[in-house]
Amino acid sequence: MAENLIISVSTEKKDRYEVLVPQIASLVEGEKDVVANLSNVAAALRQSMGFFWVGFYLVKDKQLVLGPFQGPIACTRIDFGKGVCGTSWKEERTILVPNVEEFPGHIACSSDSKSEVVLPAFKGEEVALVLDVDSDKLNDFDETDVLYLEKVMRIVENFI
Ligand code: SME
Repeated sequence: MAENLIISVSTEKKDRYEVLVPQIASLVEGEKDVVANLSNVAAALRQSMGFFWVGFYLVKDKQLVLGPFQGPIACTRIDFGKGVCGTSWKEERTILVPNVEEFPGHIACSSDSKSEVVLPAFKGEEVALVLDVDSDKLNDFDETDVLYLEKVMRIVENFI
């Protein structure tokens, strides 16, 4: 596992992700513990990309339960189909929300959260967890985030 995270100084998020994603792969290589790996993935994403909130919700007993994250305290449980996270789980797809106030049923863990992207990771055919990334700015995520965060989810699927 890498001990230091190299962070691109580029202002282009594509460049920052390009430097980050291979490091996330090596960060989790050789470690099997899911909590340890998810914790480092959340920290690496926060450190490199400066996200306001980034973390995982894990499918447990028919709910999403808060897992490793970086940022302000958050809601601990989300029901299937509820909020952006529960909808991503139900619809088994990435959901990009430019303005959380326009997403019906959005769950406001923090009133500072303005835009959000949620991506599922699968174990076999089933969603095992979702990654939730929140910004305190409107319209802060785009297809570049989706492209690279989906690469991160494919790495996560190797150890969950
Ligand atoms: N906003 C999310 C809830 C999780 S917090 O943002 C960390 C949702 O609507 O599912």
